[in-house]
Amino acid sequence: MSHELLLILDYGSQFTQLIARRAREVGVYAEIVDPRLKRAEIERRAPKGIVLSGGPRSVLEEGAPGLDEGVLGLGIPVLGICYGFQLLARDLGGRVKASARREYGEATLAIEREGRLLAGVDQTSRVWASHGDVVESMPQGFTRLARTDSVDVAAVEDPGRGVYAVMFHPEVAHSTQGTRILKNFLFEVCGFSGDWTMGQVLQEQIGKIRAQVGKRRVLCALSGGVDSSVVAALLHRAVPGQVLAVFVDHGLLRLGEAEQVSRAMGQLLDRDLLTVDARERFFSALRGVEDPEQKRKIIGSQFIDVFEDTARTTGGADLLAQGTLYPDVIESTSTRGPSAKIKSHHNVGGLPEHMKMELVEPLRELFKDEVRELGRLLGLPSAIIQRHPFPGPGLAVRILGPVTPEAVKTLSLADDIFITELRKAGLYDKVWQAFAVLLPVRTVGVMGDGRTYDQVVALRAVTSSDGMTADWARLPDTFLARVSSRIVNEVQGVNRIVYDISSKPPATIEWE
Ligand code: XMP
Repeated sequence: MSHELLLILDYGSQFTQLIARRAREVGVYAEIVDPRLKRAEIERRAPKGIVLSGGPRSVLEEGAPGLDEGVLGLGIPVLGICYGFQLLARDLGGRVKASARREYGEATLAIEREGRLLAGVDQTSRVWASHGDVVESMPQGFTRLARTDSVDVAAVEDPGRGVYAVMFHPEVAHSTQGTRILKNFLFEVCGFSGDWTMGQVLQEQIGKIRAQVGKRRVLCALSGGVDSSVVAALLHRAVPGQVLAVFVDHGLLRLGEAEQVSRAMGQLLDRDLLTVDARERFFSALRGVEDPEQKRKIIGSQFIDVFEDTARTTGGADLLAQGTLYPDVIESTSTRGPSAKIKSHHNVGGLPEHMKMELVEPLRELFKDEVRELGRLLGLPSAIIQRHPFPGPGLAVRILGPVTPEAVKTLSLADDIFITELRKAGLYDKVWQAFAVLLPVRTVGVMGDGRTYDQVVALRAVTSSDGMTADWARLPDTFLARVSSRIVNEVQGVNRIVYDISSKPPATIEWE
């Protein structure tokens, strides 16, 4: 079954993904596409609505990305946001002018007339603005709906032509009435029925997996994170007995996590799960290695070896399932070009190139929050669904210096205290990620009557919406004091705790 479609033409705004997420949250399937998409292709895909995103360029510049001719004549309602608004104004014969100063940040939206787009929106509300140029005037037929302190034309519409536009970002949470405005456009203007629900997606994906897999066998690497767990559970639901989920315990997981994954997923997947104890193999391959990139490479290649060996000894398979998400798909087809490689992120996605197997990627159309919802429907325990992201190379990149079983023990005990306390204080779900790092330095301390010369543990907790940028979490000092004293008292070999107050950029989330 196909869903009613909202097409989002991406002119490069950092918020484009958010537009799609907001639409999906209210039950509308949205896809992000290249703004150069031709009119014929748009017609073929028959969206019920089109959004023109914001973007960093100026429509007054030569070569600024535009909209294929005739798209506005298709009779499909269009909503322009910031750059999208300026583009509409320019193409329809309004006046756009470069502004002396860039408006960036919060502004107050004052409504003059509700029209269709702003129906039911408060008379004044906060909005998030980010633009250089402004629209001075719109062509005949448009009605001005609202203004902000610095922009006269902040929202307009021409219901006859099906064109709507705003000079702020309704998709950003700072725009307090943003969801209302997007809903007006989607439901009142475009007439979407809201047919995108995770219950439906679940049924469809099961059908799609069965059609693709047929009678063949599928392998799937399970890391214990939410994505691979949902993939495994989906496959087990769709083709039980034909899937083998392989969970490689490399000994670099958090305290008790290997047992927890094995137990919880074992209950769910029954005989479709195989846990491989590869701890010794990983520790011996990592012996004496200090360089972060080298650690990642070794872990990546060991992982492939273990996985391949297991595949062979269990009768092989024709397909490989993996948890590629929609943001990964957008990133790799982005019109904005690839970003610089900062770290070679190893995850199970590194497997197929080498193994030359057909891929099953049932999460390709989904955002993380949708994957979590799907996980809930599939009966995954919330301990797995709500888990913070965890790097593929595990604790190896949180032990600065050589990775030994002793270091893993020290770090995992300290980390467990931090995470347990976060949960107790109700803070776990408030941060994007939190963990402990074992530093390769010793410092002097005093315990009881004696001098100590022990290791330092750094605590890191960050807030973020996608891991690309992050800020250090302002955890209460009483909380940090409790964690610090518990670690020093309970974990042998640690006598000092520091809290990491760096944001990303310039730091990264992990220390290695
Ligand atoms: P950084 O440290 O680059 O991390 O700011 C961003 C996010 O990615 C995770 N991360 C990894 N994930 N393999 C992974 O699967 C890796 O090698 C890796 N390194 C970092 C990190 O935990 C954070 O969520």
